[in-house]
Amino acid sequence: MKVLIVGSGGREHAIAWKVAQSKRVSKIYCAPGNAGIEEVATCVPIGAMEFDKLVAFAKEKQIDLTIIGMDDPLVAGIVDVFEAEGLKVFGPRKNAAILEGSKAFSKDLMKKYKIPTASYETFDCPEKAMEYLETAMMPVVLKADGLALGKGVLICNTREEAMQGVKTLMLDKQFGTAGNRIVIEEFMTGREVSVLSFVDGEHIKIMTSAQDHKRAKDGDEGLNTGGMGTFSPSPYYTKEVDEFCQTYIYQATVDAMKMEGRSFKGIIFFGLMLTENGPRVLEYNARFGDPETQVVLPRMKNDIIDVMEACIDGTLDKVQLEFEDNAAVCVVLASSGYPEHYEKGFEIKGLEAFHNKDGYYVFHAGTKKEDGKVVTNGGRVLGITAKGSDLKKARANAYEATTWVDFANKYMRNDIGKAIDEVVDK
Ligand code: AMP
Ligand code: GLY
Repeated sequence: MKVLIVGSGGREHAIAWKVAQSKRVSKIYCAPGNAGIEEVATCVPIGAMEFDKLVAFAKEKQIDLTIIGMDDPLVAGIVDVFEAEGLKVFGPRKNAAILEGSKAFSKDLMKKYKIPTASYETFDCPEKAMEYLETAMMPVVLKADGLALGKGVLICNTREEAMQGVKTLMLDKQFGTAGNRIVIEEFMTGREVSVLSFVDGEHIKIMTSAQDHKRAKDGDEGLNTGGMGTFSPSPYYTKEVDEFCQTYIYQATVDAMKMEGRSFKGIIFFGLMLTENGPRVLEYNARFGDPETQVVLPRMKNDIIDVMEACIDGTLDKVQLEFEDNAAVCVVLASSGYPEHYEKGFEIKGLEAFHNKDGYYVFHAGTKKEDGKVVTNGGRVLGITAKGSDLKKARANAYEATTWVDFANKYMRNDIGKAIDEVVDK
């Protein structure tokens, strides 16, 4: 069969790599793709938001399945557009992708169906938000309601910071209309875990757990980024945590969406905080995580096409998801200066070292081909993933592999997965 993947990041490269393992797939296209995805797919210069062009392309090439990697097209309703044209597509419809598209919606859903999360208030008016902050407990978390490239969340330690935050989101509109409405939320402490799942509208199957490192600098310092590295599984995601979440969070969310007439098919990504009082939902995403996908999919044994089709057909209960009994670590190689200002266009050398190297992967994020060379083309450039029999070995392997490639202004964190030592060494 022929598959089209929509997106251009490290996540889409990992998805494309996994789809390429399927015996059922004869041809992969990716729109718009990047220089790494080109190795497993034919990249086509159509943007992820150009729905008409994507539909026309899928029809022309007789694509059997389109997989949407990114949040923006999902929230804007790409799945509805494909379905209306009779095209098979993997992802939630617009009325379900709102689970990620509106924080106010997801918080109200959790409240209504008693899914554990931080307490919160929603505001459409900056004056009301500021009035509320006069007496609110600090720290607080301010969240733009809409999509903001993962950057619309402000953790405010003082009342002054919080007031300034309301101004930034609602008055200065740093994230545009995403900040017309905000959620002000209780600050929670604990370990964060990312759990990706396949959902068929009714049934849910959880993938192996992962943990992201969002801050730019070692020791979780510096600005929030799209993610500087991940590891899988998370040693904090115990059997007890899983049992709690299966009952009170995962199935409860799928049931809630169904009850609301917003049946969800696709990927639900649960951002969890493991608090002293048990697991709480930090956020939902309606798509694979980036860079979580780069450590989860290399450990997955199933043919991903079988699982995606079961989600579309509503037969996920018949599927047994299987993961390797090992670990994986992904270290992001970024352009120095990310997530603020950075330069692009530098040649990347050493990529061939990954060819035919079992258990080592280089997933491209911001790269492109220029005069036959692969050059940097974004803040996050590459995701270097390696597997190992346990997390420590996987980490050593991943860091070794980061030395195989080089480009000007290469920057990475040196402590991806380090926090696990306290658990693993115990
Ligand atoms: P989100 O986009 O909602 O996942 O938020 C981005 C990051 O902000 C999360 O990964 C957490 O590190 C942090 N965060 C979000 N909400 C809270 C909260 N209620 N308490 C503490 N940290 C939070
Ligand atoms: N790594 C977090 C995200 O994909 O949103």
